[in-house]
Amino acid sequence: MKGIISPCSSTDLPAIFEIICESAQGYKGVIPADRWHEPYMPMVELVSEISKGVKFFGYYEDDHLLGVMGIQDVKDVTLIRHAYVRTKCRSQGIGGKLLTHLSRLTLRPVLIGTWKAATWAIHFYEQHGFALLGEDEKNRVLKLYWTVPDRQIQESVVLANQRWQVKGF
Ligand SMILES: CC(C)(COP(=O)(O)OP(=O)(O)OC[C@H]1O[C@@H](n2cnc3c(N)ncnc32)[C@H](O)[C@@H]1OP(=O)(O)O)[C@@H](O)C(=O)NCCC(=O)NCCS
Repeated sequence: MKGIISPCSSTDLPAIFEIICESAQGYKGVIPADRWHEPYMPMVELVSEISKGVKFFGYYEDDHLLGVMGIQDVKDVTLIRHAYVRTKCRSQGIGGKLLTHLSRLTLRPVLIGTWKAATWAIHFYEQHGFALLGEDEKNRVLKLYWTVPDRQIQESVVLANQRWQVKGF
């Protein structure tokens, strides 16, 4: 599959919104019901995430956006945020290409948070060299680097790349 990865622009906002809404359908009935809402990420929240420093990159084929992934520097680490590939375009390597591209943009340790129940996503990140943090460390970093309610912390996991283990944060 030929395609290019480049930073998203404000004209991509409707397509990013659409991809997140569509992709997040996979969470329905999997993540706890009290954490599910529709749309999964309202446009106002998406805009707010960008204003807080999440930079979205897209995988484009013929100018058509097929997948997105965000990157955000927080304190001394980089977070990978909001990774979504259009359902019909999955398992073709797009997510992997985006993750590799974004990981190479930073020299800081990279952390990724996702739902405990999103076993497919955990498997995807593990395939790309990320490792699950233990429960205590997970709770600590979610409070330190994310803004999430306690209920979400309970239901989440955090994965880290090798730079995190090496630096012994
Ligand atoms: C998680 C997600 C972003 C991964 O994107 P993706 O484009 O499907 O990822 P990739 O194709 O790079 O890799 C995923 C799978 O495809 C396989 N794959 C990679 N390159 C491939 C290729 N060229 N051809 C066929 N399969 C390939 C990988 O081995 C992997 O398979 P496996 O996990 O069954 O072993 C995507 O599944 C998604 O949007 N899921 C829903 C939302 C979500 O859970 N997001 C995570 C939020 S933290």
